Amino acid sequence: MARGRPLQVDSTTPDRSLAHRQSAERRTLMGRLVRAREEERRKIAADIHDDSIQAMTVVSMRLQQLRKHMTTSEQKELIARIDEAVVESITRLRELMFDLRPPALDRAGLGAALRELLDRMRAETDIEFSLDDRLSREPSSAVQVELYRIAQEAIANVRKHSKAGLVKVDLQRVQQGYRIRVIDDGVGFDVAIHTEERGHIGLLDMNERAMIAGGWWTIESHVGGGTEVEFWLPDERAGDAAGG
Ligand SMILES: Nc1ncnc2c1ncn2[C@@H]1O[C@H](COP(=O)(O)OP(=O)(O)O)[C@@H](O)[C@H]1O
Ligand SMILES: [Mg+2]
Repeated sequence: MARGRPLQVDSTTPDRSLAHRQSAERRTLMGRLVRAREEERRKIAADIHDDSIQAMTVVSMRLQQLRKHMTTSEQKELIARIDEAVVESITRLRELMFDLRPPALDRAGLGAALRELLDRMRAETDIEFSLDDRLSREPSSAVQVELYRIAQEAIANVRKHSKAGLVKVDLQRVQQGYRIRVIDDGVGFDVAIHTEERGHIGLLDMNERAMIAGGWWTIESHVGGGTEVEFWLPDERAGDAAGG
């Protein structure tokens, strides 16, 4: 059985050269950018919740009151339709909020947030999942969110492309960091071709996020034989220490 060539980045290789120091500095800088971006997302998500959704909810309540004062069935019908549109908008805002910053991540942690994502996938597709969460403690919040973002893209790919019946996700503490695997039994693909495709940046983005965090990311797939994404991120700052 032919295996796809794994694409791998391992930036933890010890190297005391200037180039390595520079790349460590670059990683620190990129890490700051990542954190700033997540902070921004969190703020926007909070605003959507506290402001836009609240305001729309009030509109919906007023419409329901108004409907009671309507005399003809045409009028009642019209108000009901407007209310439906408002409720639909609230649903979309909630989804946007969820994508920007899954509330479960702060409230209940990485495993719970991934379970929510997988539950949603199962509800909206025919794909079953198993989640094996063996983390006994939560990663620091910067590492947690990067682990989530990479797993989110891997799961989005399973949803969009795999036609899988089952996806297995497991989370484990490995060495001084965290390893996640996302394994589907779907159609698979030729990794060498698809990583070069223009306009498709999901694979590259996962790879880059892992690299910036000082970890590694691999994908293995073959046509007709499913896809396996595996990645590892070190505890915060352990990446810098690895270079000496
Ligand atoms: N789990 C998967 N199963 C099957 N094909 C996949 C899977 N993940 C990725 N692919 C293939 O790799 C391509 C590139 O993925 P990606 O870079 O995430 O871009 P996008 O999801 O925007 O198409 C996809 O278009 C798809 O053909
Ligand atoms: Mg994708």
